[in-house]
Amino acid sequence: MELTYTFHGHACFSLEADGTTLLFDPFLTGNPAAQVAAADLAADFILLSHGHFDHMPDAAAIAQRTGATVIGTLELATWVNGQGAANVHGMQPGGSFRFPFGRVKLTIAHHGSMLPDGSYGGVAVGFIVDIGGKRVYYTGDTALFLDMQLYGEEGIDLLILPIGDNFTMGPEDALRCVRFVRPKAVIPLHYSTWPPIAQDAAAFAAAVEATGVKCIVVGVEEPVTF
Ligand code: NI
Ligand code: MN
Repeated sequence: MELTYTFHGHACFSLEADGTTLLFDPFLTGNPAAQVAAADLAADFILLSHGHFDHMPDAAAIAQRTGATVIGTLELATWVNGQGAANVHGMQPGGSFRFPFGRVKLTIAHHGSMLPDGSYGGVAVGFIVDIGGKRVYYTGDTALFLDMQLYGEEGIDLLILPIGDNFTMGPEDALRCVRFVRPKAVIPLHYSTWPPIAQDAAAFAAAVEATGVKCIVVGVEEPVTF
């Protein structure tokens, strides 16, 4: 089976396998890095890591248009349901559930999750997703934490992580995260969208590759297949 990763800018991306598309952290409207509109994206499932404006502003509209199921914390899923997303699936960190495409587990993330209207969004999370014969760990916005080693024990094929610093791990801590998780491949995101998170992704990739792990700097709307 093949797994296709498509980057939509900032921390928004799609994973597609076997005709099923998972859309993560849909932030197209107002995203200076985006090249496609929210109205043009396909989704069967929408996964939300937390409630910040740069991760979920288009979730309800895309869910309404596509009928996609929104997966996130119970608090976030309930809020998006109230915004018009008919199909939602609430979870909490440490819990996993087997969806038609594969298993999803919510992971710990150290970050905020207040919604744009000030509502409580629950805790921020990341995801370990089995799809297309691969195991993907998207850390979400988070600080480095030692328990990432526990997620690495699950055997991660692809690690997707922020390197922007200021709001999340910067490149140095992201490199330590790679050492903790020991994935087969790494994709950085959540950098250079705005000046406070400007980073040299090529330098980060070189540092990761020096540890013997493949690192791919993916361009916006340039699909990569695993
Ligand atoms: Ni955030
Ligand atoms: Mn963010």
